[in-house]
Amino acid sequence: PISDDFATTLLAWYDRAGRHDLPWMHPRTPYRVWLSEIMLQQTQVQTVIPYFERFIATLPTLPALAAAPQDDVLALWSGLGYYARARNLHAAARLCVEQHGGDLPRDLEALIALPGIGRSTAGAILTQAWGDRFAILDGNVKRVLSRYHGIGGWPGTPAVEKQLWRLAQTHLPRERLADYTQAQMDFGATLCTRHDPACVLCPLQAKCAALSDGRVAELPTARPS
Ligand code: ADE
Ligand code: SF4
Repeated sequence: PISDDFATTLLAWYDRAGRHDLPWMHPRTPYRVWLSEIMLQQTQVQTVIPYFERFIATLPTLPALAAAPQDDVLALWSGLGYYARARNLHAAARLCVEQHGGDLPRDLEALIALPGIGRSTAGAILTQAWGDRFAILDGNVKRVLSRYHGIGGWPGTPAVEKQLWRLAQTHLPRERLADYTQAQMDFGATLCTRHDPACVLCPLQAKCAALSDGRVAELPTARPS
């Protein structure tokens, strides 16, 4: 099979209900994907869109970002919040010019070595920019996988996180990796939401452990207080 049930179902859902026209998809270059993923780390899509458009119009390439004064980069970020993201983005661009010929490296560990890029963001970049086969595990994906597989325990716990990474890896399709990454983001953001998941409309409902066990509201387990 090209994909397991989980991935096949999510991709079919994405085709009819997912987001296909986000500005960083057209054209979907590594620099545009990277910038969008950093902006989207702590900010919702609808808020990010105008900031992305303005940023990319002003600094359209990675070398242009690397060459810009830091104040200009921070001004473009002004209003988005979490300004460490902008400083890390700028520092990473300069490292890419010094170490990678002005391009983002197409390599998981090299991406993680750059400031502001963790394992999940690196996977999101590699899948969307090049179609490479890597898992992602952001808050949305942790929620969907812990419900679908009925995994208890706070996902911030190393053992739980490791189990979720393993499951994310096993579900990876053979093809359409960029769409699959976006499908998971969109599914978690719009259908299997934190507070009011639309289980009655969910294409995964027949195989969802949390739904059949009546545990949707209690998964994922909250952070211990
Ligand atoms: N959050 C992080 N990456 C995202 C993406 N590509 N689409 C929607 N939300 C996201
Ligand atoms: Fe999420 Fe409900 Fe679908 Fe399970 S059935 S994956 S809890 S939306």
